[in-house]
Amino acid sequence: TDFPHSFPKDFLWGGATAANQIEGAFDVDGKKLTTAEVVKKATDRKTFTMSDVTKESIKEAIADPGVDNYPKRRGIDFYHHYEEDIKLFSEMGFKAFRLSLAWARIFPTGLEEKPNEKGLAFYDKVFATCKKYNIEPVVTLSHYEMPLELTLKHNGWADRKVIEHFTRYTKVVFERYRGIVKYWMTFNEINAASAGFIGTGAIDAHLTSKEQLQLRYQAVHHQFIASAIAVKQLHEIDPNATIGCMLARMQTYPATAKPADVRAAQVNDQLNLFFTDVQVRGEYPEFMNRYFKENGVTLEFAPGDVELLKEGVVDYLSFSYYMTTVSAADDKINQTLGNFAIGGPNPYLESSDWGWQIDPVGLRIALNELWDRYRVPLFIVENGLGAVDEIAEDGKIHDDYRIDYLRKHIEQMKLAIGDGVDLMGYTTWGPIDLISASTSEMSKRYGFIYVDQDDDGNGTLNRMPKDSFYWYKKVIASNGEEL
Ligand code: BG6
Repeated sequence: TDFPHSFPKDFLWGGATAANQIEGAFDVDGKKLTTAEVVKKATDRKTFTMSDVTKESIKEAIADPGVDNYPKRRGIDFYHHYEEDIKLFSEMGFKAFRLSLAWARIFPTGLEEKPNEKGLAFYDKVFATCKKYNIEPVVTLSHYEMPLELTLKHNGWADRKVIEHFTRYTKVVFERYRGIVKYWMTFNEINAASAGFIGTGAIDAHLTSKEQLQLRYQAVHHQFIASAIAVKQLHEIDPNATIGCMLARMQTYPATAKPADVRAAQVNDQLNLFFTDVQVRGEYPEFMNRYFKENGVTLEFAPGDVELLKEGVVDYLSFSYYMTTVSAADDKINQTLGNFAIGGPNPYLESSDWGWQIDPVGLRIALNELWDRYRVPLFIVENGLGAVDEIAEDGKIHDDYRIDYLRKHIEQMKLAIGDGVDLMGYTTWGPIDLISASTSEMSKRYGFIYVDQDDDGNGTLNRMPKDSFYWYKKVIASNGEEL
């Protein structure tokens, strides 16, 4: 064939994590509480506690210095296990390791003028360990967390002031890690901001839905500006480094061929792609004018914002992909479960134990659509199956369900490359078991490496390769040929 049908030679195979889901050591070496560490663990698999934070629940969290109710404070103690963990990644042949910096390790309240040296020193060591194994760090500046103090003082991203605090932090880390980190991204799943606290760090659960919308989109605007400034800073400080945006891609299909359903799917799609439209193309898309008008949202732009958005467009588009949903015009559709509930269930798809619909072909569709629309390199920085793992009688974990899920997605990536898509890498979510974002469970496992810890924090924290560990090693060694 005359079309590319294999992965590029320098393809970035690896895995992805977030500080608040792995590090633990929440109050060590000067670090202070973050917004992730005041989110209680969910009481069931369906409850999404991350957007349910109130002033009272924060007070309660501050008064509770323990880790039991707030598992993101304990993570998997990567803070003390990073050498062992990165070594295990290297045994799988990782080319890239996506991690996030805990802003509050470096600026504990977010308000300091000078950074906390001990926080920076920790990431020095992490990056040196990556280098030792020839693993490129791919670094998210803000993954679902910010110093809690910024929420208490400014109501998170609702206040434009936070842009200054953020860009003081980004300047410090770009300078410190110049020549060390080549791949950055600004905000994890920036569209999560439309789901409240989790993305914006702004307490709005007490507001009417109309007021929430106003606050959230204004907060998103501030994140867009902060991101544009960060892009410009990086390009000046380290011209060899690149920086992307990060979208939770929610591909949605029309429930039927009825034109009204197709239109409903188009609208949901636009609301998702709005974020990348701004960050990749550098301007607000026209369709949002109608949406804002119809929903009573009036955004405040400061002088210079329009230009800044144009100047601060990202170098590549990274995204997470877990599932797809279905949209219908009549609103009667039941919402399915997932990381973002924007649509209904699809009768043609199976679901994970947490109700997330599994759709490998949807990944090929998403890759093609994103490439057609934006023409910038794409980077899949999250994909994976959250599942309950059991240790078999032989003492091992035979996670063929996870292998099956990943294999099917990688096959579709390969087809998309054949379609002409410029795909730079693939980092699976949670290469080592970690605390789940939505429910704070440990038993929702994504890893190639098992971590001995249960939902209540009992366990030795020992690390153990699962069957998928050896499978992924083979995939990487063969550059995606042996699946
Ligand atoms: C993504 C987040 O939405 O999904 C990750 O960026 C998260 O932080 C991942 O862990 C999987 O979600 P969950 O809730 O299963 O951990």
